[in-house]
Amino acid sequence: MKIVLGIGGGIAAYKAAELARALLEPGHEVQVIMTQAAQEFVRPLTFAALTGRKVITGMFPAQTGGDTLASAVEHIAVATSSDLLVVAPATADLMAKFAHGLADDFLSTLYLAFTGPVVLAPAMNTNMWRHAATQRNLETLQQRGHHIVGPEEGELACGMVGPGRMSEPEKIAAAVCAVLSARRDLEGETVLVTAGPTQEPLDPVRFISNRSSGKMGYALAEAARARGAEVVLVSGPVALGPPAGVKVVRVRTAVEMREAVLAHLEWASIIVKAAAVADYHLARVPEHKMKKTAARLSVELDPTPDILAEVGRRKGGRLLVGFAAETQDLVAEARRKLVSKGCDLLVGNRVDREGVGFESDDNEVTLVSCTGEVTPLPRAPKRELADRIYDELLKLRLTIHAAR
Ligand code: CTP
Repeated sequence: MKIVLGIGGGIAAYKAAELARALLEPGHEVQVIMTQAAQEFVRPLTFAALTGRKVITGMFPAQTGGDTLASAVEHIAVATSSDLLVVAPATADLMAKFAHGLADDFLSTLYLAFTGPVVLAPAMNTNMWRHAATQRNLETLQQRGHHIVGPEEGELACGMVGPGRMSEPEKIAAAVCAVLSARRDLEGETVLVTAGPTQEPLDPVRFISNRSSGKMGYALAEAARARGAEVVLVSGPVALGPPAGVKVVRVRTAVEMREAVLAHLEWASIIVKAAAVADYHLARVPEHKMKKTAARLSVELDPTPDILAEVGRRKGGRLLVGFAAETQDLVAEARRKLVSKGCDLLVGNRVDREGVGFESDDNEVTLVSCTGEVTPLPRAPKRELADRIYDELLKLRLTIHAAR
């Protein structure tokens, strides 16, 4: 594979030589790009000798050693011919440039022209790392789907102790290899995911909703995208940014969610219904705000359309994954919903335990399949569980096809 190694201007730049070696070892081609500041810490010659290639040190012919138009558009050529960009050390300045799309040197210009996976290994002073500006930039880069390795805690070159040290070259190289060998087993699939709660208005200012944060559904959308699928995410109101490369359709109510799901039904090959849809709503919402009186208030609610059950009836050959949020009888309830809603796989999760389920970053679920298999998945980050759910779903598809 062809890897671009971008080196920023920080004391950790010397560790990039080890990283270059670790990347060359499994047989990758490594093209090094150094910023002006990086060259104050290490000489380009070190990397040229290691990689056996000219190191790119600037935008213009006088800096790159060339004198043709070819060198003036070299950033585009490098961007289109490379499989992965890793930047180590990723300084606060580089993170800011990448986050905001500034392109004032070769590395930041190449970054904008590059469409493949990006791995960043930040390194900087602790206060710079913790600064709200850097943290905001980090969030932007993470939302863009970039892989962030480190920084580690420890004593820094400036004498401070805290987060900011660049991860060891072996760890960064391992992350690069993991990204390069990531599964693309959902390539060609069109995955429709629903996420978050719905809000059912009682009047123009009040609504009924639930504690769903949308994190599980967003993780499922992100995982499908990372594995090569085209993904549409129908999302209820949540406080999460859109996952990189995913089309997000924002809805509020169960009725709106149903419309958005049915509009994509023909398109989808896999449907994952992780949303916590409200079961009841006020069929006719008053136009004006309800006024408080001294009397007891009772409101009559009607059931919302059961989107999953409807999709289950109309799914044809599509794979359908449902969810069940339970506080008791998890497997029995999951089984009941699997059958009654026509799912191929049902993900049951307990929502009455500390640290898992609603609002948490972790989850602990039990999968019940239409072939009768029950697979408990132990507590793990939701993004990891999302991958396990797709693993099981793809296995299940093979079993279903074999049985036909
Ligand atoms: N679901 C749906 N439409 C609804 C209610 C639920 O599509 N109106 C879907 C959810 O997205 C989820 C599954 O049905 O995939 C199960 O949701 P859950 O709330 O656990 O089940 P309910 O059918 O609402 O049953 P109950 O609340 O009685 O447990």
